[in-house]
This record gives sequence, C-alpha cells and structure tokens, in this order.
Amino acid sequence: MSTIDILGLHKSFGKLPVLQGIDLAVEPGEVVCVIGPSGSGKSTLLRCVNLLETPTSGTIHVGGVEVTDPDCDIDAVRRRIGMVFQQFNLFGHLTVRENVTIAQRRVLKRSRAEANRIATLNLERVGLAEKAGAYPAQLSGGQQQRVAIARALAMDPQLMLFDEPTSALDPELVGEVLAVMRGLAAEGMTMLVVTHEMAFAREVASRVVFMDGGVVVEQGPPAEVFGNPREERTKTFLHRVLEPTRVSETEIGAHKPV
Ligand SMILES: Nc1ncnc2c1ncn2[C@@H]1O[C@H](COP(=O)(O)OP(=O)(O)OP(=O)(O)O)[C@@H](O)[C@H]1O
Ligand SMILES: [Mg+2]
Repeated sequence: MSTIDILGLHKSFGKLPVLQGIDLAVEPGEVVCVIGPSGSGKSTLLRCVNLLETPTSGTIHVGGVEVTDPDCDIDAVRRRIGMVFQQFNLFGHLTVRENVTIAQRRVLKRSRAEANRIATLNLERVGLAEKAGAYPAQLSGGQQQRVAIARALAMDPQLMLFDEPTSALDPELVGEVLAVMRGLAAEGMTMLVVTHEMAFAREVASRVVFMDGGVVVEQGPPAEVFGNPREERTKTFLHRVLEPTRVSETEIGAHKPV
C-alpha cells in the first residue's frame, strides 16, 4: 500500500486552475522531492494531501484512507502526518519543550511525563536537547526550524511533508536543517519535500518530481532528472536554477537598449 496515492487531482481557486490532473504515489520509505517554478502549484499539492486545501476533483489516499471522502475523519489522518512549513509557527510564549509537548498532550492525550520524555528524545534527534528551556526568540532561525521538526516528529508521524523548510533561513543556517532532514531520510522516514535546494534533492531524494503549470512534467531518479532531463521545460528550469547567472537576455524576453 502506498503511503500517499494521488489520482487525477485538480484544484482551482475561483477561475484559476492551479493543479490540472496530478497523479502521484509515494511509497513507504521514499523521499520524494518536488521542484518547479514559483506558482506551479507545489504548495497547493502538499496542502491538498492533508486537506488544508480542498481538491476540486480527484482522489487522495493517505495510508490507505481516502482523505477526499467526505466521511473521512481528517483529524485522525492529520495526526499521522507531520508538516513543516517555511514559517516555523512556534508559540513565542512557550518554551521549546512546551512547544514540543503541547500537541502530544492535547491531541494524543499523553501524560506530562511521557510527553516530556518524547520531547527530549526528539530534541536530541535534531541536536537541540540543551535548548529545551529556551524561548523561540532566543533561538536562531535554523534552530527554530529544527524545533518545528522535533515537534512534528514527537507526534510519531507515518509521513512528513516539508514545504520549503529552509527558504526563510539565512544561507549559513540552511545546512543544519538539511542535515536533520538527511538523517530522517536515512532512518527510513517517508517524506514529501517541496524544495529549491537542488543539491539536497539530488543527494537525498529517491525520486524527483518536476512540476510546471499545475502538472507533473517529468519525474524519476535524481540522477536522471538532473543529469539527463527529457523535457524541454525541465531543462529550461534546471538551467535557470543551477546557473542563475547565465540566464540569457532572450530567455527572459529582455531587450538590449537601442
Ligand atoms: N488560497 C489561494 N487563493 C487563490 N489563489 C491561490 C491560493 N493559494 C495559491 N494560489 C495560487 O495558486 C498558484 C499556485 O500557488 P502555489 O503556492 O501552490 O505555488 P508554488 O509552486 O508553491 O510556488 P512557490 O514556489 O512560489 O512557493 C499561484 O498562482 C497562487 O497565486
Ligand atoms: Mg510554495
């Protein structure tokens, strides 16, 4: 059984078609990295998986449960999905430990002692055990994002969704977050990751999915998609992101002054 199974997914916002027929499966233990230009629908796709957006049509199964079924208990499904966004959304008035225990206690009804024990384990996992008593404002962006990851992991997710988890970070802080994600991948966590970190996707992904204009244009092992892309749109995109200083004036429709 696939961890995620998406069939014929369409999503429009009003008259704007954003996802135009996505078929995508993620198998247990796979790390699938989604790349593509801004506005291509990557975040919308991720948000449809846990129904933060309601699909216009199509079906999505998560762990065999159809989340697009109106009778689905979506809260039960969401409990098994960890989600990490660009913005960390930590509670500023709570300590790191409290941020990592609050949902465990409220949603999973764990005792304080049990929640604390699991918080410690997961803060160790992201290298932040010594920051348990700190407040988010006392941490760097990279540390805050690692707390957000620990918070998600403390819920024992069967699946982690990441939406550009490093894009709000200063460049020197990106590496520590990617290192945590690399560790999770090595442990066999099933992950669907929207990223513009091409080096990370190339190294860690079991499969790379290139989206453009609300469709999956091409997908395959990273060595193929990066090393030998089949589609023109993929080539153009990769050229632009991998060698941004070499984009020609004709490509962006710029004109030389006359
Ligand atoms: N809630 C919304 N209401 C209306 N339009 C939306 C909404 N969310 C997204 N869109 C539009 O849907 C399109 C796809 O957005 P989405 O955020 O999925 O793109 P993306 O691939 O994640 O882009 P980026 O790389 O910039 O994050 C965009 O044109 C966006 O403006
Ligand atoms: Mg996005």
